[in-house]
Formats: sequence, structure tokens, C-alpha cells
Amino acid sequence: MSPTRRLPIGVMISGRGSNLQALIDACAEPAYPARIALVVSNVAAARGLERARAAGIATRILPHRDFATRAAFDAAVTAAFEDAGVEIICMAGFMRLVTPEFVARWHDRLLNIHPSLLPAFRGLDTHARALAAGVKVHGCTVHLVRSELDTGPILGQAAVPVLPADTPERLAARVLAAEHRLYPHCLRLFIEGRIRVAGEVVEIDSDVETVPTDRCLINPPLPKP
Ligand code: GRF
Repeated sequence: MSPTRRLPIGVMISGRGSNLQALIDACAEPAYPARIALVVSNVAAARGLERARAAGIATRILPHRDFATRAAFDAAVTAAFEDAGVEIICMAGFMRLVTPEFVARWHDRLLNIHPSLLPAFRGLDTHARALAAGVKVHGCTVHLVRSELDTGPILGQAAVPVLPADTPERLAARVLAAEHRLYPHCLRLFIEGRIRVAGEVVEIDSDVETVPTDRCLINPPLPKP
């Protein structure tokens, strides 16, 4: 039996790296179709770098202030990933805008996770804004990156309830737990070609199990029968 071909992926981080950890853990599974070839951080003190090192993954620190322009920074990131043979990049808490050139170089090869149900709450402070808006369901989105911030074909989403006692922190923790399940799942399906880009939307293959049509998250819930 031939071993699974593991697609070399790159991960871009700026901080804590809990989504990176979810990807590291997924890649530790024998049948997972990816391996992390390189983690790039624009912040030297990012905790995610320790997670990568602990897993024996190569890291590069590229402090954005070392580059005269955003384009020069992005070119260095691309060169680092190309040197490592990376074919798909996952942004995981990478807190810098990237240039249209970078997005074009990695067209349909650049994934991001965003802590809201896009297209709602693009940008920062999504949990506080969700609470302020009074939404009753919130969540996270894995999408392909396009030039406009937090747009692009949606690969998958996870929804969580917003509860009466929620603070932005409590809601963030609930969403984050969902992020850790969603990101490796979407990456796997994408690499396996089971979710595919068709123009500016993503189609789910007919062999992928989808949520039963009678299942929905109603918040506040219906009374028990
Ligand atoms: C996550 O909430 C992610 O959705 C957003 O930034 C946060 C990164 O957290 N893009 P971590 O660094 O993965 O722990």
C-alpha cells in the first residue's frame, strides 16, 4: 500500500497559534493528507513558534518592520514558502494585510480562518460586535483569501449559540473551540478535492457528508416535547 501523499503546507501566524496547534495535531494523524513544511511568523515572540518548534516543524521569523514595503515583506514570505516547497498556505491568526500580488501568487492556494460567520462581521473585534448586534448565532469561517479583507469563497463554517451571560471572551472561547475542529476538516476536504472552487463559491462534493436537513441550531431553543 502506498503511503498517503502529504501535501506540504505553510502556516502564517502572528500570535498564540492555537489554530496552528489544531493543524499540527491533525497532521500527526497517519491518514491526514498534509504536512506542515514551514511556519512563518511576522512576530518573533509569537507563542505559535514554540508550538511549531515543539513539533519539530521548521520556522521562519520575518519581522515586517525589517521590510521597507508591504510588497517586499510579502515577497520574502512567498520566497520562504517556495524554498520549503509549500503548495498551500493557511493563515492562522496572521494579523497583517497582504498585497493583491501575494493573493494572486497563491490564488486558490491561500486559506484563512475568520472568527465570524462571514459575510457578517468582517474585520476585528468580531465577538464584541456580534454581542453588540444581538445575534443569537455566531461562529467561524474557513475561506479562500481574496484581495478584499475577509472575503473569498467559503470552504466551511461552524455555528455556535450566543448565550445570555456571554462576554466577548466567553463567546470567543466557544468560537475558538469550533475553529479548531473546522480548520483541519476544511483543509483536508480541500486537499482531497472534495470541496472545490467554482468561480467565487465552493461546491461540496456529493460524497461529503453534509448536515441533515432536519438539523438546525435554534437559539433560544424550542421547548422540549
Ligand atoms: C482566531 O480566532 C482566528 O480565527 C483569527 O485569529 C485568531 C487566532 O488565534 N484569525 P490563534 O493564534 O490561532 O490561537
